[in-house]
Amino acid sequence: MTLPQPVKVAVLISGAGSNMAALIDAGQAAGSPFEVVLVISNQPDAGGVAIAEAKGVTALTLDHRPFGKDREAHERAIDAALSDAGVERIALAGYMRLLTPWLVQKWAGRMLNIHPSLLPLYPGLDTHARAIEAGDAEAGCTVHLVTEGVDEGPILGQARVPLLPGDTSASLSQRVRVAEHALYPAVLSESCRNG
Ligand code: GRF
Repeated sequence: MTLPQPVKVAVLISGAGSNMAALIDAGQAAGSPFEVVLVISNQPDAGGVAIAEAKGVTALTLDHRPFGKDREAHERAIDAALSDAGVERIALAGYMRLLTPWLVQKWAGRMLNIHPSLLPLYPGLDTHARAIEAGDAEAGCTVHLVTEGVDEGPILGQARVPLLPGDTSASLSQRVRVAEHALYPAVLSESCRNG
């Protein structure tokens, strides 16, 4: 019996790329239902670009700045690179650009995002500070499908971590990040297995 070919995934980043690295590693493990074939950063100085290359994955920088206010033109350049690489699914991992309806609709059901809160709590930025400020007992992260509303798409999986006395945004974000690195590959695998 031949195993199905792994689903080809692109990871879009803007920064450090620690989730990207976790996805690349998981995708390189034997029997993984997905493989990261391409990383795209909109930031030329994103740390994740060198990490992806060191792991043997093609990494492109597609700076949004030359496109000015034309978000869709930037996304069309991204989409062309995705299509050249035969990408079947997108994983957003710290990609700090709002997406246009054009890209969201084109990849509907095939684009995932990770967000550092237990959605629907705390969409947007500064999630850890907001959880601490609210006095929550726990925090966590969510992987969801991307829809037009920011951080609003159907939830595919969540991981919870305790919020400890004395936690700062930095300490909480570190604890959540560890959970993210386990959650994202697991949820992406499941979504790829389910076709
Ligand atoms: C993560 O906290 C992720 O949940 C959020 O952006 C951060 C990206 O971190 N969307 P990294 O670049 O993966 O290290």
